[in-house]
Amino acid sequence: MAKIVVLISGSGSNLQALIDAKLPADICHVVSSSPTAFGLERASKAGIETSVHALKTYYTGIPKENTEARKAARSKFDADLAAKILAISPDLVVCAGWMLILSPSFLAPLDGKVPIINLHPALPGQFAGTHAIERSWEAGQRGDVENGGCMIHYVIEEVDMGEPIVVEKVPIIKGESVEDYEVRIHAKEHEAIVKGTLLALQK
Ligand code: GRF
Repeated sequence: MAKIVVLISGSGSNLQALIDAKLPADICHVVSSSPTAFGLERASKAGIETSVHALKTYYTGIPKENTEARKAARSKFDADLAAKILAISPDLVVCAGWMLILSPSFLAPLDGKVPIINLHPALPGQFAGTHAIERSWEAGQRGDVENGGCMIHYVIEEVDMGEPIVVEKVPIIKGESVEDYEVRIHAKEHEAIVKGTLLALQK
């Protein structure tokens, strides 16, 4: 059976969607960038092995102003995460609300060996990076875009710009609160992450 490693940073509602989907694959390990991520509880409840890979521990003892040393520590964080994943040797890595940029120190060791897909709460080419939900909502309320949405895409070095696998449009409703818009986005995410994972496994 195909093996999947899921990377999370927060509540893990997208991880939960993968668990509930009873995929024809084994979610064999969940890595969280935060020790307090509720997603860790979700994984444990489902009997999935978990680990924490926290950037903070790599920065311990390095003063903020020591940018060179912090850059090296960040690179080691990514390289160690790649090594951890290669040791598990999954068929797919799913970033389900992983809130850190994955640098070439992470991508290079996995390149050609383990595909990596990511969930991003915006449409291809729009609102790459953080706070995409809020930014697309604001653009929609301004009339700059008619749709928001979410996508599952392959992870490349350019943040949130890899080849899309699944794209789900969410029409903008003028006057809708950002909270209500976010509820609709998350609902679509939970569908997209299952669809995108299944498609990536079939490749
Ligand atoms: C999702 O909105 C995802 O698009 C964003 O962070 C959120 C993760 O939510 N990157 P969860 O941890 O899966 O509940």
